[in-house]
Amino acid sequence: MVKKVSLMLMILGAFGFFILTGCEDDDSPTSSAPAELEYIGSDACAECHEAISDKITNNGHGYKLNKVENGQAPSYPYTNVPTPPVGYDWDDISYVIGGFGWKARFVDLQGYIITGDAVQYNIETSGWSGYHSDEDPGTKPYNCGRCHTTGWKSTDDGGAHQDGMPGMAGQFSEPGVHCEACHGRGSRHVESSSADDIVRDTNSSMCGGCHYRNENHLIDASGGFIRHHEQYDEMISGGHRGLDCIECHDPHQGIQDPSYSYAASLAKCQECHTGANYAMHNGADCIKCHMPEATKSAVASNVYNGDLMTHIFAINTEAVGKDAMWYSDGKKAVGEVTLDFVCYQCHQDPDGVGGAGSPKTLEELSAKATGYHTP
Ligand code: HEC
Ligand code: HEC
Ligand code: HEC
Ligand code: HEC
Ligand code: HEC
Ligand code: HEC
Ligand code: HEC
Ligand code: HEC
Repeated sequence: MVKKVSLMLMILGAFGFFILTGCEDDDSPTSSAPAELEYIGSDACAECHEAISDKITNNGHGYKLNKVENGQAPSYPYTNVPTPPVGYDWDDISYVIGGFGWKARFVDLQGYIITGDAVQYNIETSGWSGYHSDEDPGTKPYNCGRCHTTGWKSTDDGGAHQDGMPGMAGQFSEPGVHCEACHGRGSRHVESSSADDIVRDTNSSMCGGCHYRNENHLIDASGGFIRHHEQYDEMISGGHRGLDCIECHDPHQGIQDPSYSYAASLAKCQECHTGANYAMHNGADCIKCHMPEATKSAVASNVYNGDLMTHIFAINTEAVGKDAMWYSDGKKAVGEVTLDFVCYQCHQDPDGVGGAGSPKTLEELSAKATGYHTP
């Protein structure tokens, strides 16, 4: 069974690779914009697209890489990163990587990512953990710009070292993911205001140009969880493979934005899934059961709860635990989530691990879950 699924994933992976290629001369996902154009920066877009520019300030994309200026901590809409790692002042930090959602890492004044035992700040716990602690500080280049910046050009492709810092393995036009990261170079469009001069790519493979991990689109796992930034890989492993991310997401609105509506997201599930008996279960709704936190970015609260909602929607109803979710020595996930991830968000396993609800064995869960929506 597991073998069959993995083979299927590999075939799918090859297909996914096909639709994702096309990034040869430009590292960004929107290289379809003609190369003679230039990146002009999101401030220029704001002149005419004010509403979108305002809305996007509550979205995580723009906060992916934050310059430290005047020795001050960067500011975020909902979180804060109180200090750099022990032994560093804000004056010793050039950029903070992340800090909007799950965790923050730090770039030193030479452009290298700071490594060590307690150099990653975890927002949920306000605690610190290690990052490449076997590598000396001052040796790990910042080569993450393809997915974290706008207009990234790596030094391998002839880019400069950003801000003249040797550790920066490329240059960018703006730190963070801004308008032109998704819409391509805008220099001609700001002159012409023509829709023909700007990219409007609604395909999930555009988002998938960053929300993936490996070219083969297998779902990487480690430490008993799916690894983060694989939403595209997760999604194309199941029945949603043909959906665009923007069926469910407003590309300009973050899911923590005060005007984002969880209820509207929930209603969307039922727009497409009509007809069956989709009754809710004691406070569990479609999203709770079908997008459990089987993925981990920064910290897990227990063995069943990571900190990112998976985009694998299919559930394996057999009475098997999470070990059945992995193959290849726990390094890859199959495209079905096991019941323990789903149901122990609320119920407890026989050892008392999980949520605050009644204890249930995997057999009891399986009996209830099998044919769940069939009256
Ligand atoms: C001088 C005003 C102006 C500026 C500056 C401007 N735009 Fe536009 N933009 C427009 C107008 C007007 C339209 C509507 C064009 C139409 O529908 O024919 C538009 C349409 C668009 C569209 C939709 C295209 C489509 O296919 O429907 C996108 C995406 C877009 N702009 C992005 C940007 C980005 C990114 C920037 C900054 C790089 C930017 N715009 C700067 C005026 C501007
Ligand atoms: C994460 C990727 C992403 C970023 C960042 C982004 N956009 Fe978009 N944008 C999209 C996608 C995808 C669509 C198409 C949505 C659709 O057709 O439903 C879109 C549509 C648009 C449109 C036309 C439709 C509309 O909603 O009016 C405009 C104008 C636009 N974007 C401008 C901008 C500007 C200006 C910025 C920066 C302030 C920006 N976008 C940042 C992905 C992005
Ligand atoms: C293939 C694209 C890609 C590459 C390459 C990449 N990341 Fe990310 N990263 C993402 C995406 C997408 C997210 C957010 C979604 C998620 O975590 O599932 C993210 C999230 C993060 C976060 C958490 C942000 C927050 O606000 O909590 C940190 C920190 C981070 N990445 C660090 C790095 C570092 C350091 C590198 C380079 C060594 C790197 N990433 C390379 C795509 C990428
Ligand atoms: C735009 C339409 C659309 C929306 C919106 C949508 N789905 Fe689906 N869903 C599909 C299609 C198409 C399939 C695959 C064919 C099928 O099984 O009916 C699918 C399959 C599924 C499956 C079966 C598992 C799998 O991978 O095939 C689950 C579970 C599911 N969807 C849950 C959800 C949930 C939960 C939501 C809301 C967050 C949602 N869907 C929103 C279209 C949609
Ligand atoms: C250039 C790379 C890139 C592209 C393209 C991209 N993302 Fe992201 N996305 C990221 C990174 C990096 C983060 C983490 C941002 C942070 O934590 O500061 C992120 C975070 C997110 C989040 C969580 C943050 C929030 O505020 O809700 C959602 C949802 C998301 N992306 C959806 C999308 C969708 C949908 C698309 C396509 C329309 C898309 N992304 C395109 C890199 C990208
Ligand atoms: C069937 C609907 C659906 C589709 C398609 C979909 N998402 Fe989501 N996504 C959601 C929902 C629902 C949430 C959770 C929203 C909430 O918590 O209110 C979410 C959350 C996220 C998050 C944040 C996860 C977290 O735990 O904070 C990211 C990042 C994300 N989506 C990226 C993507 C990307 C990239 C794609 C396309 C490859 C995509 N999504 C396609 C429904 C969808
Ligand atoms: C959002 C929390 C939540 C999730 C997720 C959840 N449950 Fe429940 N469940 C409850 C609550 C609350 C009750 C009633 C009180 C109790 O038993 O703790 C309950 C009761 C039950 C019962 C006994 C009564 C009945 O309805 O038959 C079974 C069996 C059950 N759940 C199975 C499952 C299975 C199987 C899953 C996963 C597919 C699941 N639950 C996921 C909260 C949840
Ligand atoms: C208590 C957890 C739970 C909730 C809540 C829940 N589901 Fe499911 N769903 C399941 C389980 C378990 C299966 C697998 C059933 C099987 O394979 O026999 C499933 C299967 C599905 C399937 C696959 C086809 C089918 O009917 O078996 C779809 C589609 C689906 N759910 C959509 C939804 C939607 C939409 C909602 C919200 C309206 C929802 N589910 C709410 C647990 C849940």
